[in-house]
Amino acid sequence: MTDAALTARPGHALVGRARAPGDKSMSHRALLLGALAKGVTEIEGLLEGEDVLNTAKAMRGFGATVDQLGEGRWRVEGQGGFSEPSDVIDCGNAGTGVRLIMGAAAGFDLSATFTGDASLRGRPMGRVLTPLGLMGAIWMGRSGGRLPLTLKGGNLKSIVYRLPMASAQVKSAVLLAGLHAEGGVEVQEPEPTRDHTERMLRAFGVTVDVTDTPDARIVRLDAGQSLTGTKVRAPGDPSSAAFPIVAALITPGSRVTIEGVMLNPLRAGIFTTLQEMGADLTIENLREESGEPVGDLTACYSALKGVEVPAERAPAMIDEYPILAVAAAFATGTTIMRGIGEMRVKESDRIALMANGLKACGVDIEEEPEGMIVHGSGQAPKGGARITTKGDHRIAMSHLVLGLAAQTAVTVDEPEMIATSFPTFHSLMADLGADISA
Ligand code: S3P
Repeated sequence: MTDAALTARPGHALVGRARAPGDKSMSHRALLLGALAKGVTEIEGLLEGEDVLNTAKAMRGFGATVDQLGEGRWRVEGQGGFSEPSDVIDCGNAGTGVRLIMGAAAGFDLSATFTGDASLRGRPMGRVLTPLGLMGAIWMGRSGGRLPLTLKGGNLKSIVYRLPMASAQVKSAVLLAGLHAEGGVEVQEPEPTRDHTERMLRAFGVTVDVTDTPDARIVRLDAGQSLTGTKVRAPGDPSSAAFPIVAALITPGSRVTIEGVMLNPLRAGIFTTLQEMGADLTIENLREESGEPVGDLTACYSALKGVEVPAERAPAMIDEYPILAVAAAFATGTTIMRGIGEMRVKESDRIALMANGLKACGVDIEEEPEGMIVHGSGQAPKGGARITTKGDHRIAMSHLVLGLAAQTAVTVDEPEMIATSFPTFHSLMADLGADISA
């Protein structure tokens, strides 16, 4: 960790147009499925954030040829499967990277050792190791299923797995392992989560059946299906777009358009919620790219009001609650966010860090075991704090956005971690007129 810090200062309206960086979830999956496939996959719009670059490196470790052709343009040549890596697979800060790669690797007769940075080594891996173990994979490592660990795959059996938590990472790990499990797999999701794995597997030629029942969404996949290299375009990441959009909504005089934002209904919960709060947020030029709905979003400064976010919306915006809490701090009235216990096992305990950070900035926020309640005064919070981010990119960006519209500047530590998901955050915000500097 370094001593560097970034400070966001208020007093400047945000005006202009920008393109959100490529979607992180789709970028991980494009590299991973490209490496599993036979033949060449060409990717456009890949997010060149550190998390995704670690997945690119990992795919080379498992035997794929991965090359950057230009900005966001990548070529992956897979061998139709993974071979045993000769070195440790280090996924850095990326929970999505390591969990999906472990699922894919479990399908092959190989042994691989996985690790990550201090944050990732503290995060629960049992949630994927349990189903992979039931399918026949073996792992050895620290107690509690934390990294580093060694996974031995191959000879997997079929499984019907009901997700104990709403997690697209766990669903995806089981589906990817299921490609090589005798008899295939069925994953039951009581609460539907982002479906990029299902959509992208289809683009690579795999048949995936999805059935909605009153009890669960059921995803089934037959084993023995091979993937064929294809072309993938990653649209703009809604999780990243949410930062400049909320910045515009809370900063007087602002009008910002973010182009090419992916609006998959299982990702776009933040925009629905902001509209319910009274945000002047419009979607234009709605189209389809790589099988995903995409649009251009324009946000203008708005008088927001508090709302209760339906708990069942949580999977569709789980990464956006930190920035929603910031929007709620500027709203008039109470915003209730419940059913979000999963936030505590992200890159940091995001409920605790948002509660601490917002309190330090003068916001009235209550922390619950699985929720946050923000009492907005309808006025700019005082700000004026230095925030401990525990190396969490979204905690850092959320507080910087707050600082742009607070009464006094807000400083965050470890801003270098923003590069894990949004390496162009600083320049994009500066181009829109934000005052963020060391
Ligand atoms: C992701 C799923 C979510 C999300 C993460 C990306 C994915 O995690 O928080 O940033 O790409 O599948 P969970 O599946 O653990 O909810």
